[in-house]
Amino acid sequence: MSAPAGADRTAPAWVLRCVDCAREHAALEVRYRCECGGTLDVVHDFGAAPGPVSPATLDARRGSFASADCSGVWRFREWVLPLAAEHIVTRAEGNTHLYESAALGAWAGLERPLQLKHEGENPTGSFKDRGMTVAISVARALGMRAVACASTGNTSASMSAYAAQAGLRAYVFIPEGRIAYGKLGQSLAYGGRTIQVRGNFDAAMTLVEQVCLARGIYLVNSVNPFRIEGQKAILFELLQDLRWDVPDWIVLPGGNLGNSSAIAKGLAELHALGAIARLPRIAVVQAALANPLFTAWTTGAPLVPVADPQTLATAIRIGSPVSWRKCLRGLNATNGVVEQATDQQIMDAKAEVDAAGIGAEPASCASVAGLRTLVARGVVPRGAHVVAILTGHVLKDPDAIVGYHRGTLEGIVPARANPPVTCDATLDAVLGALEG
Ligand code: F0G
Repeated sequence: MSAPAGADRTAPAWVLRCVDCAREHAALEVRYRCECGGTLDVVHDFGAAPGPVSPATLDARRGSFASADCSGVWRFREWVLPLAAEHIVTRAEGNTHLYESAALGAWAGLERPLQLKHEGENPTGSFKDRGMTVAISVARALGMRAVACASTGNTSASMSAYAAQAGLRAYVFIPEGRIAYGKLGQSLAYGGRTIQVRGNFDAAMTLVEQVCLARGIYLVNSVNPFRIEGQKAILFELLQDLRWDVPDWIVLPGGNLGNSSAIAKGLAELHALGAIARLPRIAVVQAALANPLFTAWTTGAPLVPVADPQTLATAIRIGSPVSWRKCLRGLNATNGVVEQATDQQIMDAKAEVDAAGIGAEPASCASVAGLRTLVARGVVPRGAHVVAILTGHVLKDPDAIVGYHRGTLEGIVPARANPPVTCDATLDAVLGALEG
Protein backbone atom coordinates (compact mmCIF):
# COMPACT_ATOMS: atom_id res chain seq x y z
CA MET A 1 0.00 0.00 0.00
CA SER A 2 1.10 3.58 -0.42
CA ALA A 3 2.66 5.22 2.59
CA PRO A 4 0.25 7.29 4.62
CA ALA A 5 1.49 10.65 5.80
CA GLY A 6 3.21 10.13 9.10
CA ALA A 7 4.34 6.60 8.26
CA ASP A 8 7.72 5.34 9.42
CA ARG A 9 7.88 7.62 12.41
CA THR A 10 10.19 6.08 14.96
CA ALA A 11 8.64 7.56 18.09
CA PRO A 12 4.85 6.98 18.15
CA ALA A 13 2.89 10.17 18.83
CA TRP A 14 0.74 8.65 21.55
CA VAL A 15 0.90 7.03 24.98
CA LEU A 16 -1.41 4.66 26.83
CA ARG A 17 -2.99 6.22 29.92
CA CYS A 18 -4.98 4.45 32.62
CA VAL A 19 -8.60 5.57 32.78
CA ASP A 20 -8.64 5.02 36.56
CA CYS A 21 -5.25 6.17 37.92
CA ALA A 22 -3.82 8.14 34.93
CA ARG A 23 -0.55 6.20 34.98
CA GLU A 24 1.10 6.25 31.57
CA HIS A 25 2.51 3.30 29.65
CA ALA A 26 4.58 2.90 26.49
CA ALA A 27 2.78 3.46 23.19
CA LEU A 28 3.39 0.04 21.66
CA GLU A 29 3.50 -2.87 24.05
CA VAL A 30 1.33 -5.90 24.71
CA ARG A 31 -0.85 -4.41 27.39
CA TYR A 32 -4.62 -4.03 27.88
CA ARG A 33 -4.81 -2.82 31.45
CA CYS A 34 -2.87 -0.79 33.96
CA GLU A 35 -1.27 -2.44 37.01
CA CYS A 36 -4.25 -1.10 38.96
CA GLY A 37 -6.63 -3.06 36.70
CA GLY A 38 -8.00 0.02 34.95
CA THR A 39 -8.57 0.09 31.19
CA LEU A 40 -6.32 2.22 28.97
CA ASP A 41 -6.84 5.16 26.66
CA VAL A 42 -4.70 5.99 23.66
CA VAL A 43 -3.74 9.60 24.33
CA HIS A 44 -2.55 11.31 21.16
CA ASP A 45 -0.08 14.09 20.75
CA PHE A 46 -2.03 15.80 18.02
CA GLY A 47 0.53 18.58 18.03
CA ALA A 48 2.87 16.08 16.40
CA ALA A 49 0.30 14.98 13.82
CA PRO A 50 1.67 15.39 10.32
CA GLY A 51 0.13 17.85 7.92
CA PRO A 52 -3.17 19.66 8.08
CA VAL A 53 -6.19 17.38 8.39
CA SER A 54 -8.69 19.69 6.80
CA PRO A 55 -12.12 18.68 5.44
CA ALA A 56 -10.71 19.28 1.95
CA THR A 57 -7.80 16.87 2.60
CA LEU A 58 -10.22 14.25 3.88
CA ASP A 59 -12.49 14.71 0.87
CA ALA A 60 -9.52 14.37 -1.49
CA ARG A 61 -8.56 11.13 0.24
CA ARG A 62 -12.11 9.85 -0.18
CA GLY A 63 -11.67 10.18 -3.92
CA SER A 64 -8.15 8.72 -3.95
CA PHE A 65 -7.09 5.22 -5.04
CA ALA A 66 -4.32 4.88 -2.44
CA SER A 67 -4.96 1.87 -0.18
CA ALA A 68 -5.02 3.78 3.11
CA ASP A 69 -7.24 6.47 1.63
CA CYS A 70 -9.75 3.86 0.42
CA SER A 71 -10.29 2.83 4.05
CA GLY A 72 -12.92 4.71 6.05
CA VAL A 73 -10.61 4.25 9.03
CA TRP A 74 -7.10 4.97 7.75
CA ARG A 75 -8.34 7.97 5.77
CA PHE A 76 -8.51 9.58 9.24
CA ARG A 77 -5.12 8.14 10.29
CA GLU A 78 -3.84 11.24 12.08
CA TRP A 79 -6.86 11.04 14.41
CA VAL A 80 -6.95 7.24 14.61
CA LEU A 81 -3.34 6.05 14.92
CA PRO A 82 -0.32 7.23 12.92
CA LEU A 83 1.03 3.71 12.50
CA ALA A 84 3.80 2.87 10.03
CA ALA A 85 2.26 1.92 6.68
CA GLU A 86 3.96 -1.47 6.40
CA HIS A 87 1.94 -2.82 9.33
CA ILE A 88 -1.48 -1.82 8.09
CA VAL A 89 -3.97 -4.58 7.27
CA THR A 90 -6.99 -3.05 5.58
CA ARG A 91 -10.03 -4.25 3.67
CA ALA A 92 -11.25 -0.79 2.72
CA GLU A 93 -13.49 -0.95 5.76
CA GLY A 94 -15.98 1.79 6.50
CA ASN A 95 -17.32 3.78 3.57
CA THR A 96 -20.78 2.87 4.82
CA HIS A 97 -23.90 4.59 3.63
CA LEU A 98 -25.76 7.25 5.57
CA TYR A 99 -29.42 6.54 4.86
CA GLU A 100 -32.24 8.98 5.39
CA SER A 101 -35.76 7.73 6.06
CA ALA A 102 -38.80 9.91 6.55
CA ALA A 103 -40.85 6.79 7.41
CA LEU A 104 -38.48 5.78 10.20
CA GLY A 105 -38.29 9.36 11.44
CA ALA A 106 -42.09 9.45 11.66
CA TRP A 107 -42.19 6.03 13.35
CA ALA A 108 -39.73 7.23 15.97
CA GLY A 109 -41.88 10.35 16.49
CA LEU A 110 -39.56 12.83 14.81
CA GLU A 111 -40.71 15.67 12.59
CA ARG A 112 -37.76 15.13 10.25
CA PRO A 113 -36.23 12.10 8.56
CA LEU A 114 -34.10 9.81 10.65
CA GLN A 115 -30.57 9.35 9.39
CA LEU A 116 -29.03 5.91 9.77
CA LYS A 117 -25.31 5.18 9.43
CA HIS A 118 -25.28 1.55 8.30
CA GLU A 119 -22.20 -0.07 9.74
CA GLY A 120 -23.52 -3.44 8.59
CA GLU A 121 -22.07 -2.45 5.21
CA ASN A 122 -18.52 -3.10 6.43
CA PRO A 123 -16.55 -6.00 4.86
CA THR A 124 -17.62 -8.59 7.45
CA GLY A 125 -21.02 -7.03 8.00
CA SER A 126 -20.54 -5.10 11.23
CA PHE A 127 -18.95 -2.00 12.73
CA LYS A 128 -16.30 -4.22 14.32
CA ASP A 129 -14.17 -4.05 11.17
CA ARG A 130 -13.25 -0.45 11.95
CA GLY A 131 -11.66 -1.34 15.26
CA MET A 132 -10.31 -4.63 13.96
CA THR A 133 -8.23 -3.16 11.15
CA VAL A 134 -6.37 -1.15 13.78
CA ALA A 135 -6.03 -3.96 16.34
CA ILE A 136 -4.74 -6.44 13.75
CA SER A 137 -2.35 -3.84 12.33
CA VAL A 138 -0.99 -3.21 15.84
CA ALA A 139 -0.70 -6.98 16.34
CA ARG A 140 1.53 -7.05 13.28
CA ALA A 141 3.53 -4.05 14.48
CA LEU A 142 4.10 -5.90 17.77
CA GLY A 143 5.18 -9.06 15.94
CA MET A 144 2.36 -11.15 17.42
CA ARG A 145 1.61 -14.53 15.88
CA ALA A 146 -1.90 -15.14 17.22
CA VAL A 147 -4.95 -13.13 18.24
CA ALA A 148 -8.02 -13.97 20.31
CA CYS A 149 -11.33 -12.54 21.40
CA ALA A 150 -14.46 -13.41 23.30
CA SER A 151 -17.47 -12.51 21.27
CA THR A 152 -21.20 -12.47 20.84
CA GLY A 153 -20.37 -13.11 17.18
CA ASN A 154 -19.44 -9.99 15.26
CA THR A 155 -16.05 -9.37 16.81
CA SER A 156 -15.11 -12.99 16.16
CA ALA A 157 -16.24 -12.82 12.53
CA SER A 158 -14.23 -9.66 12.00
CA MET A 159 -11.14 -10.87 13.84
CA SER A 160 -11.10 -14.19 11.99
CA ALA A 161 -11.24 -12.44 8.63
CA TYR A 162 -8.56 -9.85 9.36
CA ALA A 163 -6.31 -12.39 11.05
CA ALA A 164 -6.56 -14.67 8.01
CA GLN A 165 -5.58 -11.79 5.80
CA ALA A 166 -2.64 -10.91 8.05
CA GLY A 167 -1.48 -14.51 8.39
CA LEU A 168 -2.18 -14.64 12.14
CA ARG A 169 -3.74 -17.54 14.03
CA ALA A 170 -7.18 -16.68 15.40
CA TYR A 171 -8.83 -18.04 18.55
CA VAL A 172 -12.50 -17.31 19.10
CA PHE A 173 -14.34 -17.79 22.41
CA ILE A 174 -18.11 -17.71 22.08
CA PRO A 175 -20.97 -18.49 24.45
CA GLU A 176 -22.28 -21.88 23.33
CA GLY A 177 -25.57 -21.73 21.44
CA ARG A 178 -25.96 -18.00 21.98
CA ILE A 179 -24.63 -16.44 18.84
CA ALA A 180 -26.42 -15.91 15.57
CA TYR A 181 -25.73 -18.45 12.85
CA GLY A 182 -24.39 -16.02 10.28
CA LYS A 183 -21.67 -14.96 12.70
CA LEU A 184 -20.73 -18.49 13.77
CA GLY A 185 -20.54 -19.38 10.09
CA GLN A 186 -18.18 -16.50 9.37
CA SER A 187 -15.81 -17.40 12.15
CA LEU A 188 -15.62 -21.01 10.94
CA ALA A 189 -15.30 -19.99 7.31
CA TYR A 190 -12.42 -17.60 7.92
CA GLY A 191 -10.55 -20.30 9.82
CA GLY A 192 -10.81 -19.05 13.39
CA ARG A 193 -10.32 -21.81 15.96
CA THR A 194 -13.77 -21.54 17.50
CA ILE A 195 -14.20 -22.55 21.13
CA GLN A 196 -17.77 -22.68 22.39
CA VAL A 197 -17.68 -21.99 26.11
CA ARG A 198 -20.46 -23.46 28.24
CA GLY A 199 -21.33 -20.14 29.80
CA ASN A 200 -22.30 -16.65 28.76
CA PHE A 201 -20.27 -13.91 27.04
CA ASP A 202 -19.05 -12.51 30.34
CA ALA A 203 -17.58 -15.88 31.33
CA ALA A 204 -15.89 -16.17 27.92
CA MET A 205 -14.51 -12.64 28.29
CA THR A 206 -12.94 -13.38 31.67
CA LEU A 207 -11.40 -16.58 30.31
CA VAL A 208 -9.97 -15.07 27.15
CA GLU A 209 -8.07 -12.39 29.09
CA GLN A 210 -6.46 -15.17 31.15
CA VAL A 211 -5.71 -17.33 28.10
CA CYS A 212 -4.05 -14.43 26.29
CA LEU A 213 -1.79 -13.68 29.24
CA ALA A 214 -0.94 -17.35 29.71
CA ARG A 215 -0.16 -18.05 26.04
CA GLY A 216 1.19 -14.75 24.70
CA ILE A 217 -1.78 -14.33 22.38
CA TYR A 218 -2.85 -10.79 21.47
CA LEU A 219 -6.29 -9.90 22.80
CA VAL A 220 -8.39 -7.86 20.38
CA ASN A 221 -11.59 -7.32 22.35
CA SER A 222 -12.46 -3.67 22.90
CA VAL A 223 -10.53 -3.78 26.19
CA ASN A 224 -7.66 -3.42 23.71
CA PRO A 225 -7.32 0.38 23.49
CA PHE A 226 -6.43 0.31 19.78
CA ARG A 227 -9.81 -1.18 18.91
CA ILE A 228 -11.44 1.93 20.32
CA GLU A 229 -9.25 4.17 18.15
CA GLY A 230 -10.48 2.45 14.99
CA GLN A 231 -14.09 2.55 16.07
CA LYS A 232 -13.85 6.35 16.44
CA ALA A 233 -13.80 6.43 12.64
CA ILE A 234 -17.57 5.78 12.55
CA LEU A 235 -17.92 9.26 13.94
CA PHE A 236 -15.31 10.81 11.67
CA GLU A 237 -16.89 9.35 8.56
CA LEU A 238 -20.37 10.27 9.74
CA LEU A 239 -19.31 13.90 10.16
CA GLN A 240 -17.68 13.83 6.74
CA ASP A 241 -20.95 12.44 5.29
CA LEU A 242 -22.78 15.33 7.00
CA ARG A 243 -20.29 17.85 5.63
CA TRP A 244 -19.30 18.55 9.27
CA ASP A 245 -22.82 19.63 10.21
CA VAL A 246 -22.95 18.21 13.74
CA PRO A 247 -26.25 16.39 14.49
CA ASP A 248 -28.17 16.97 17.72
CA TRP A 249 -28.16 13.32 18.74
CA ILE A 250 -26.28 10.13 17.95
CA VAL A 251 -28.14 7.01 19.10
CA LEU A 252 -26.50 3.59 19.29
CA PRO A 253 -26.89 0.20 20.96
CA GLY A 254 -24.73 -0.68 23.95
CA GLY A 255 -23.29 -4.08 24.90
CA ASN A 256 -19.66 -4.22 25.98
CA LEU A 257 -19.74 -0.41 25.59
CA GLY A 258 -16.67 -0.06 23.39
CA ASN A 259 -18.48 1.66 20.55
CA SER A 260 -20.16 4.33 22.65
CA SER A 261 -16.82 4.96 24.40
CA ALA A 262 -15.13 5.32 21.02
CA ILE A 263 -17.64 7.77 19.61
CA ALA A 264 -17.50 9.91 22.75
CA LYS A 265 -13.69 9.87 22.67
CA GLY A 266 -13.63 10.89 19.03
CA LEU A 267 -16.05 13.72 19.74
CA ALA A 268 -13.95 15.00 22.64
CA GLU A 269 -10.81 14.93 20.51
CA LEU A 270 -12.36 16.69 17.51
CA HIS A 271 -13.86 19.30 19.81
CA ALA A 272 -10.52 19.93 21.51
CA LEU A 273 -8.85 20.24 18.09
CA GLY A 274 -11.48 22.78 17.03
CA ALA A 275 -12.65 20.55 14.15
CA ILE A 276 -16.24 20.76 15.45
CA ALA A 277 -17.75 23.68 17.32
CA ARG A 278 -20.27 21.77 19.42
CA LEU A 279 -20.95 18.26 20.68
CA PRO A 280 -23.97 16.13 19.80
CA ARG A 281 -25.64 14.28 22.65
CA ILE A 282 -25.11 10.51 22.76
CA ALA A 283 -27.91 8.07 23.61
CA VAL A 284 -26.91 4.49 24.41
CA VAL A 285 -29.67 1.89 24.24
CA GLN A 286 -29.43 -1.43 26.07
CA ALA A 287 -31.68 -4.49 25.97
CA ALA A 288 -34.04 -4.36 28.96
CA LEU A 289 -32.81 -7.65 30.46
CA ALA A 290 -29.15 -6.93 29.72
CA ASN A 291 -29.09 -3.40 31.08
CA PRO A 292 -26.34 -2.86 33.67
CA LEU A 293 -25.42 0.54 32.24
CA PHE A 294 -29.05 1.68 32.22
CA THR A 295 -29.38 0.74 35.89
CA ALA A 296 -26.11 2.43 36.84
CA TRP A 297 -27.11 5.52 34.90
CA THR A 298 -30.60 5.85 36.36
CA THR A 299 -29.52 5.10 39.94
CA GLY A 300 -26.23 6.97 39.86
CA ALA A 301 -24.60 3.95 41.52
CA PRO A 302 -21.48 2.15 40.20
CA LEU A 303 -22.20 -0.51 37.61
CA VAL A 304 -23.47 -3.82 38.99
CA PRO A 305 -23.17 -6.69 36.48
CA VAL A 306 -26.35 -8.50 35.38
CA ALA A 307 -25.65 -12.15 36.22
CA ASP A 308 -27.85 -13.77 33.57
CA PRO A 309 -28.48 -11.29 30.76
CA GLN A 310 -31.26 -12.20 28.34
CA THR A 311 -32.27 -10.82 24.97
CA LEU A 312 -33.08 -11.97 21.47
CA ALA A 313 -30.56 -9.36 20.34
CA THR A 314 -27.71 -11.77 21.08
CA ALA A 315 -25.02 -9.27 20.04
CA ILE A 316 -25.75 -7.20 23.14
CA ARG A 317 -26.47 -10.02 25.56
CA ILE A 318 -23.80 -8.81 27.95
CA GLY A 319 -24.08 -8.42 31.71
CA SER A 320 -20.63 -7.14 32.65
CA PRO A 321 -19.45 -4.61 30.05
CA VAL A 322 -15.70 -4.08 29.98
CA SER A 323 -15.75 -0.42 28.93
CA TRP A 324 -18.40 0.91 31.29
CA ARG A 325 -16.17 3.52 32.89
CA LYS A 326 -15.09 4.92 29.53
CA CYS A 327 -18.70 4.93 28.40
CA LEU A 328 -19.94 6.80 31.48
CA ARG A 329 -17.14 9.32 31.06
CA GLY A 330 -18.26 9.86 27.46
CA LEU A 331 -21.90 10.19 28.42
CA ASN A 332 -21.04 12.80 31.01
CA ALA A 333 -18.90 14.72 28.51
CA THR A 334 -21.66 14.76 25.87
CA ASN A 335 -24.63 15.30 28.19
CA GLY A 336 -25.69 11.85 27.05
CA VAL A 337 -28.44 9.51 28.19
CA VAL A 338 -29.05 5.78 28.50
CA GLU A 339 -32.30 4.09 27.49
CA GLN A 340 -33.46 0.50 27.37
CA ALA A 341 -35.69 -1.48 25.01
CA THR A 342 -37.58 -4.73 25.47
CA ASP A 343 -37.20 -7.52 22.95
CA GLN A 344 -40.67 -6.70 21.62
CA GLN A 345 -39.63 -3.07 21.09
CA ILE A 346 -36.37 -4.15 19.45
CA MET A 347 -38.14 -6.54 17.08
CA ASP A 348 -40.84 -3.94 16.29
CA ALA A 349 -38.11 -1.45 15.42
CA LYS A 350 -36.29 -4.09 13.38
CA ALA A 351 -39.46 -4.82 11.41
CA GLU A 352 -39.66 -1.09 10.56
CA VAL A 353 -35.96 -0.78 9.65
CA ASP A 354 -36.20 -3.93 7.51
CA ALA A 355 -39.45 -2.88 5.83
CA ALA A 356 -37.88 0.47 4.94
CA GLY A 357 -35.58 -1.58 2.71
CA ILE A 358 -32.56 -0.84 4.89
CA GLY A 359 -32.44 -3.88 7.18
CA ALA A 360 -30.19 -4.63 10.14
CA GLU A 361 -29.68 -7.28 12.80
CA PRO A 362 -31.73 -7.10 16.02
CA ALA A 363 -29.11 -5.41 18.25
CA SER A 364 -28.67 -2.62 15.71
CA CYS A 365 -32.36 -1.84 15.89
CA ALA A 366 -32.22 -1.28 19.64
CA SER A 367 -31.03 2.19 18.66
CA VAL A 368 -34.23 2.95 16.75
CA ALA A 369 -36.38 1.34 19.46
CA GLY A 370 -34.71 3.40 22.18
CA LEU A 371 -34.98 6.55 20.13
CA ARG A 372 -38.75 6.09 19.88
CA THR A 373 -38.96 5.88 23.68
CA LEU A 374 -36.71 8.92 24.12
CA VAL A 375 -38.87 10.99 21.75
CA ALA A 376 -42.07 9.83 23.48
CA ARG A 377 -40.54 10.87 26.82
CA GLY A 378 -39.57 14.26 25.46
CA VAL A 379 -35.88 13.66 26.06
CA VAL A 380 -35.14 13.89 22.32
CA PRO A 381 -37.13 16.83 20.88
CA ARG A 382 -39.37 15.98 17.93
CA GLY A 383 -37.53 18.49 15.75
CA ALA A 384 -34.07 17.12 16.53
CA HIS A 385 -31.52 16.06 13.90
CA VAL A 386 -30.85 12.46 14.89
CA VAL A 387 -28.46 9.86 13.51
CA ALA A 388 -28.93 6.24 14.58
CA ILE A 389 -26.04 3.82 14.17
CA LEU A 390 -27.03 0.46 12.66
CA THR A 391 -24.23 -1.80 13.81
CA GLY A 392 -24.77 -5.08 11.93
CA HIS A 393 -26.06 -6.47 8.64
CA VAL A 394 -29.57 -7.91 8.29
CA LEU A 395 -28.17 -11.32 7.22
CA LYS A 396 -26.20 -11.79 10.42
CA ASP A 397 -29.20 -13.31 12.16
CA PRO A 398 -31.52 -15.03 9.67
CA ASP A 399 -33.19 -17.05 12.44
CA ALA A 400 -34.47 -13.88 14.07
CA ILE A 401 -35.98 -12.73 10.77
CA VAL A 402 -37.65 -15.98 9.79
CA GLY A 403 -38.77 -16.62 13.35
CA TYR A 404 -40.36 -13.18 13.52
CA HIS A 405 -42.22 -13.49 10.23
CA ARG A 406 -43.37 -17.03 10.95
CA GLY A 407 -44.51 -16.00 14.42
CA THR A 408 -42.30 -18.53 16.18
CA LEU A 409 -40.20 -16.19 18.31
CA GLU A 410 -41.17 -16.83 21.91
CA GLY A 411 -42.91 -13.89 23.52
CA ILE A 412 -42.87 -11.72 20.39
CA VAL A 413 -46.03 -10.49 18.68
CA PRO A 414 -45.04 -9.93 15.02
CA ALA A 415 -47.11 -6.89 14.08
CA ARG A 416 -45.51 -6.75 10.62
CA ALA A 417 -45.40 -10.50 9.96
CA ASN A 418 -44.70 -11.32 6.31
CA PRO A 419 -44.62 -15.12 6.33
CA PRO A 420 -43.66 -17.11 3.24
CA VAL A 421 -46.64 -18.58 1.35
CA THR A 422 -46.60 -22.13 -0.01
CA CYS A 423 -48.76 -23.17 -2.97
CA ASP A 424 -49.11 -25.83 -5.62
CA ALA A 425 -47.07 -25.49 -8.79
CA THR A 426 -50.00 -24.33 -10.95
CA LEU A 427 -50.71 -20.92 -12.45
CA ASP A 428 -54.05 -20.65 -10.63
CA ALA A 429 -52.51 -21.48 -7.30
CA VAL A 430 -49.64 -19.05 -7.84
CA LEU A 431 -51.99 -16.27 -8.95
CA GLY A 432 -54.10 -16.97 -5.88
CA ALA A 433 -51.02 -16.74 -3.72
CA LEU A 434 -50.37 -13.21 -4.96
CA GLU A 435 -53.41 -11.98 -3.06
CA GLY A 436 -53.54 -11.52 0.67
N1 F0G B 1 -24.41 -4.09 17.88
C1 F0G B 1 -23.85 -5.20 17.40
C2 F0G B 1 -24.35 -5.75 16.10
C3 F0G B 1 -22.80 -5.83 18.10
O1 F0G B 1 -22.23 -6.92 17.59
C4 F0G B 1 -22.38 -5.28 19.33
C5 F0G B 1 -21.31 -5.90 20.09
C6 F0G B 1 -23.00 -4.10 19.77
C7 F0G B 1 -24.02 -3.55 19.03
C8 F0G B 1 -22.60 -3.45 21.04
O2 F0G B 1 -21.42 -2.74 20.87
O3 F0G B 1 -20.11 -3.86 22.63
O4 F0G B 1 -19.32 -1.75 21.59
O5 F0G B 1 -21.28 -1.75 23.11
N2 F0G B 1 -20.81 -7.01 19.83
C9 F0G B 1 -19.63 -7.58 20.49
C10 F0G B 1 -19.16 -8.82 19.77
C11 F0G B 1 -19.74 -7.70 21.94
O6 F0G B 1 -18.55 -9.70 20.39
O7 F0G B 1 -19.37 -8.91 18.57
P1 F0G B 1 -20.47 -2.50 22.13
